Amino acid sequence: MNFVPLVPLSHLHDGFRQVFTLDGVDYLLLQHEGRRYLLENDCPHAAYPMAQGKVVDGALRCPMHGYLFSLDTGACTYYTEGPCRGLQRLDLVEQGGQVGVLR
Ligand code: FES
Repeated sequence: MNFVPLVPLSHLHDGFRQVFTLDGVDYLLLQHEGRRYLLENDCPHAAYPMAQGKVVDGALRCPMHGYLFSLDTGACTYYTEGPCRGLQRLDLVEQGGQVGVLR
């Protein structure tokens, strides 16, 4: 597997958000309370961008219909119009002063 750098560690801070396209899928890199997450950016319910969502009790809330997705697992933990799959998530790796993924 090869390390794919996404952003220098020195650029990260709480509130950081940036979208990256990996293998044709948009992922949101975000940092919240010192922890970093890489989650699919398109909401599985109706494809609204999750990058505008707020973090609520360890979950990312979709701004369109309010579905909640666990930051740790991507699982959908709250829905209104019926269950939907979770957000895809990728493990982040630190290497050479960068945070990225193994592909
Ligand atoms: S588009 Fe995200 S909850 Fe509906």
